[in-house]
Amino acid sequence: MKKIIFDTDIGVDDAFALACAAKSQQILGITTVFGNVAVGQAVKNARLFAQLVGCDAPVFRGCSRPLALSPSASAAPVHGGDGLGDVLENPFPEEADSAIDFIINSVRAQPHEVTLVAIGPLTNIATAINLAPDIVPLVKELVIMGGAFGTNGHAGNVTPHSEFNIWKDPHAADQVLSSALPVTVLPLDVTHEVLISGEDIRSLKVPVLEQISRGYLQYSLAKEGFEGMALHDTLAVLWLTYPDFFTTVKAPVRVVTEGITLGQTLRKIGALASRFDPYAGCREQTLCLGVQADKVKAAFLAMLQA
Ligand code: BDR
Ligand code: CA
Repeated sequence: MKKIIFDTDIGVDDAFALACAAKSQQILGITTVFGNVAVGQAVKNARLFAQLVGCDAPVFRGCSRPLALSPSASAAPVHGGDGLGDVLENPFPEEADSAIDFIINSVRAQPHEVTLVAIGPLTNIATAINLAPDIVPLVKELVIMGGAFGTNGHAGNVTPHSEFNIWKDPHAADQVLSSALPVTVLPLDVTHEVLISGEDIRSLKVPVLEQISRGYLQYSLAKEGFEGMALHDTLAVLWLTYPDFFTTVKAPVRVVTEGITLGQTLRKIGALASRFDPYAGCREQTLCLGVQADKVKAAFLAMLQA
């Protein structure tokens, strides 16, 4: 069991990830960020869902907009207007203490012990390391769901080149991925390989997961002809327990911050006689590009059925 800070823009698949984290990790706190929903809604959702899955970790409020871009639309068509399928009463308030302070103070108080799990835009993480660069060598690991590197044709999901979390704040993502933080990346290359069906979700017999995913499944059936969802954010949590189910490569990573490929994640593959190296000084990050999908799916079902 690892000590984690769970950083989320909590929508439907983030909620599945939180349910798994509550079963398998020690959650020090939940920090929220804009993304699938506005940050105030993310605070409300995190409070409500934490209570529903028996997690008593405190909830904090993080960034409400990207570092440099103008805010873009939420993910309402997929996750519902409230991010959780518009099916739950949510009496919780939007205000909370600062997520950035919580991240900085927790890492300083427990050097080399805290794993950050970030499953939304990376704005909170970028802001924390910009304000307190001393925490960079003190973070045990940062595990993110984000990006797409084109393995087996898995490219973008919000544009042909870009994945949602990275595209939402590419400047933050570029700062974080090119920093000295040790980052493990779970991109679409692996998350689009691990699909669960409506039948799988119903088999869990966890009514709230079935309720919140109903709209998501309908959207996916209408759009893709498949009543199911990629496990996306949950893979960042499962990585903590089952790293052997993934194959990884090490490479420095940069993010495109302008133009038609805005939000694209690029890894350095090699460069013969290249004169300019945009990856110079960037740490080699761990990229999960292969996954044993059957094993990950079985671990997920067992974790939530238990
Ligand atoms: C990511 O985008 C969000 O909508 C999901 O919650 C996940 O974090 C997948 O691209
Ligand atoms: Ca997310």
